[in-house]
Amino acid sequence: MTPEEKKKLAAEAALEYVTPGSIVGVGTGSTVNQFIDLLAENMGDKIKSAVSSSEASTERMQQHGIKVEDLNTVGRMSIYVDGADESNNQLHLIKGGGGALTREKIVAAASDQFICIADDSKLVETLGEFPLPVEVIPMARNLVMEELEKLGGTPRWREGVITDNGNHILDVTNLKIHNALTMETQINQIAGVVTVGLFAHRPADVLILGGDNGVRTITA
Ligand code: A5P
Repeated sequence: MTPEEKKKLAAEAALEYVTPGSIVGVGTGSTVNQFIDLLAENMGDKIKSAVSSSEASTERMQQHGIKVEDLNTVGRMSIYVDGADESNNQLHLIKGGGGALTREKIVAAASDQFICIADDSKLVETLGEFPLPVEVIPMARNLVMEELEKLGGTPRWREGVITDNGNHILDVTNLKIHNALTMETQINQIAGVVTVGLFAHRPADVLILGGDNGVRTITA
């Protein structure tokens, strides 16, 4: 089975969590794109609206005719569906491969249940093999890089990429993240950091992994 087929299985399973009349938080990425297409096909006329975590997802949903609302007008959502770059067994995540980490973290924080969908290659023993994305205020980029080096990481500027919020992204390698809670706090404390792509203080509640034998669901 290809990774795309596995992602589709996970996206299909996430539809079960969507209830008619609800406002759905929607993440970003190739797995979520499959979810958006399935949502539009199966429940597009049944949900009230969606809150999006990126311009890309907004555009895709609007093309399908799904109403996208501003978070400030809806308040809280019952569920948020998003992908991940890595997850451990505690459902702590690395996110931001697509650069949408800040809005993703905001929408996750405003949702009662976070359903994470991925192909089974995303489940890891220890987070950190995937370079950890950090969104930074552009003028603080070098300062933040120095601080990340002090933490043992090797940051690299994702040159040419500007986030939906007008900021830059650093991708940090060489981090073995044994305590994601502590590291999330530490990196968020660096002046100039907007968001680190570690989702440990607000982890996923349900992880749906698509694999060769169907879906496997892990709950926190
Ligand atoms: C977007 O910024 C990311 O957090 C995505 O959720 C993550 O990169 C997963 O993307 P894929 O579904 O494309 O693997």
